[in-house]
Amino acid sequence: AARTFFVGGNYKMNGTLDSTKKLIDILKSAQLDPKAEVVVAPPALHLLLTKELLSGSKIGVSAQNAYHKASGAFTGEISVTQLKDAGIPWVILGHSERRTLFGEKDDDVAEKTKAGLEQGLSVILCVGETLAEREKNESINVVVRQLDAVAKQISDWSKIVVAYEPVWAIGTGKVATAEQAQEVHAAIRKWANDKLGSQAGEALRIIYGGSVAAKNCKELASQPDISGFLVGGASLKPEFVDIVNARL
Ligand code: G3H
Repeated sequence: AARTFFVGGNYKMNGTLDSTKKLIDILKSAQLDPKAEVVVAPPALHLLLTKELLSGSKIGVSAQNAYHKASGAFTGEISVTQLKDAGIPWVILGHSERRTLFGEKDDDVAEKTKAGLEQGLSVILCVGETLAEREKNESINVVVRQLDAVAKQISDWSKIVVAYEPVWAIGTGKVATAEQAQEVHAAIRKWANDKLGSQAGEALRIIYGGSVAAKNCKELASQPDISGFLVGGASLKPEFVDIVNARL
């Protein structure tokens, strides 16, 4: 079966209660491709409001991060168990900002992914190389290393969407070309087929993130191994609707 096109909006640490409500209103009244799966990830403080605003809509809600322990003395953290309890079905894990600014290692991301899946959450698992790594021709090795760390801890990838986000393309306006993105997506597909078997490998959705905009989304969306996007900056604008509709 064809892979369902997936578009995530990662609001990062942006917005107020009021601006989040306005954004959700825009999405709810927009004509979105009925074949696209859409998930928005507001800051944790706005998750329950967003969930309430989206009730009755097909748009899903995601957290931007979570901790793997169920509860305890972990000041400032929110657990995968608490997300589950609050009815938040998705979580983004291993975003490059978590890795580079907050020191999350491959094994931490793997542990979180395992814990999230154990709670029945779906996971947007982010991988991607830095500019220095790309210049050393290490892109595919880095992505495979990040994925292998997760594959050591979990075997069922059916609730995972892999987001390939080259760090040099995030928030820079410097989007990967469709060829650059497709090349890495194809390598991830090959990894998945080898590691998980061809059925799970072919079913895995691999989405692209990094300066996705209305003007570049159609070409990216037409690549065989690009099944959608994780959108940062443009998800805060009405333009997000055009990105959701990239395949129309
Ligand atoms: O999670 C989203 C990515 O980090 C992309 O962010 O679209 O602002 O480049 P961006």
